[in-house]
Amino acid sequence: MSGENELILGIESSCDETAAAVLSGGRKVLSMAVHTQIPVHRLYGGVVPEIASRSHTERIGAVVDEALKSAGVGLNDIGAIAVTCTPGLIGALLVGVSYAKGLAYAANIPLVGVNHIAGHIAANYLTYPDLEPPFVCLVASGGHSHIVRVVDYNRFELIGRTRDDAAGEAFDKAARALGLLYPGGPEIEKLAKCGNPNAFRFHAPFNEGESNDFSFSGIKTAVVNLLHNAEQKGEVLNKADVAASFQRAVADTLTMKSVRAALREKSSVLALAGGVSANSVLRTRLQTECDRNGIRFCRPDMRFCTDNAAMIACQGYYMLRSGEVSGLDLNPSAAEFLSEGR
Ligand code: KG4
Ligand code: ZN
Repeated sequence: MSGENELILGIESSCDETAAAVLSGGRKVLSMAVHTQIPVHRLYGGVVPEIASRSHTERIGAVVDEALKSAGVGLNDIGAIAVTCTPGLIGALLVGVSYAKGLAYAANIPLVGVNHIAGHIAANYLTYPDLEPPFVCLVASGGHSHIVRVVDYNRFELIGRTRDDAAGEAFDKAARALGLLYPGGPEIEKLAKCGNPNAFRFHAPFNEGESNDFSFSGIKTAVVNLLHNAEQKGEVLNKADVAASFQRAVADTLTMKSVRAALREKSSVLALAGGVSANSVLRTRLQTECDRNGIRFCRPDMRFCTDNAAMIACQGYYMLRSGEVSGLDLNPSAAEFLSEGR
């Protein structure tokens, strides 16, 4: 890569957000553009892959143009392109990767394929200019829940993972059982504000063990069973209490496991990443526990929590800096383990 202040265009299309962003020097965000498909998928209660691919195809040109325009630059000013290539919906990934390849070829600039989870972790670099690896990161998104040892910008080791549902997936499923809209996380958070988090005790016995792994399927099933049994008996439950108690159970589990992992790793920093990092109860719980244990807690600014392209451009910057470039034969892949930055 030529200069420290070179501009990078990031492109993200792994799920239900078409996003582009322009970064200068890896951590300075010049622009962000996002087209969200949430209102369309809401009609079906979740993401419909075929609709997602079509919508990305329709929107990607306009979203990239908007990011360039609001950064006040043209394609000729861009030094490299970073694009999400894994994991995600294969048809959705294909749209971003194909578009990025076309632009890189046309402008004759380097292309780098970025792992979406690595991108979520990099969202913390955008928020804390001084943050550098190594640190421990809790990644909680719609498709993944991991505790990751971030050894270097491009080197990751998985030290904990969910044994079943991802945390965001559990939020989405519990929300559905409560009759709330997709995506469930923000809806549960809103409803829980007027509920009692101690009204019900939802727990999965697995989470009480010594392992760094966690389980959310049991917590979600306990919510579904509670609602189902009440309905059969004709009882009316306070849904805000159910939402608050569920949110508390998930936040407690994520907090306890990740803080313990950071202590075991003797890490002075615990970072949070992924869509669930937008949850204010989780952010507060983690901040409190980290403060109690003398750990620095980092979490992305709200605008970098859910899917965006600034985080992809940031991770792309660090990959390019260490000489990682993808060829025009770059192919997306639906499911790939987080390793070596890809
Ligand atoms: O990272 P993300 O935008 O997409 C994936 O890579 O999966 O995460 C989306 C997930 C969804 O499951 C959504 O319900 C959850 O993040 N989420 C939240 C909140 N905002 C989004 N979960 C809890 N509280 C929130 N405020
Ligand atoms: Zn994501």
